Amino acid sequence: MSEYDKTALIKAAFEVRKNAYAPYSGYYVGAALLTESGKIFTGTNVENSSFPVGVCAERSAFAAAISSGERKFIAMCVTGERNNNNPLISNDYCMPCGMCRQFMTEFCDKEFEIISAKSEEDYQINKLDTLMPGAFLLFGGFT
Ligand code: THU
Repeated sequence: MSEYDKTALIKAAFEVRKNAYAPYSGYYVGAALLTESGKIFTGTNVENSSFPVGVCAERSAFAAAISSGERKFIAMCVTGERNNNNPLISNDYCMPCGMCRQFMTEFCDKEFEIISAKSEEDYQINKLDTLMPGAFLLFGGFT
């Protein structure tokens, strides 16, 4: 489904990004997930002193939605911004990491859209199938 309110989804991702907990990387990420039922769930990255323990914004948003009983998803907006002058961190479109792409294939079909937004007007849209071809699946909705 490509007919949905992209602006509302982008706004929600920017709004929740204010709550990102990223004192180690200084890269603040917000994600907003649209369910088939029309609800939006949000999440941020949550980092940890023990670096690998941290979680990405995308999986935070999925965990919130799935914990609320949702199982079918239309699209997600992701937005990231560095909050320091670290030249190693890019301010380009924020793409989901490989672990998040694999996570998405469990619940989303190939048409699921990922909006990587720099602003409400400047964004790229990719379908999950393009970002995660040949996903590993035992049981999932990636059809
Ligand atoms: N991060 C996300 O939350 N989502 C992405 O799509 C890419 C990376 C987070 C993980 C970590 O907290 C920080 O960004 C830097 O990698």
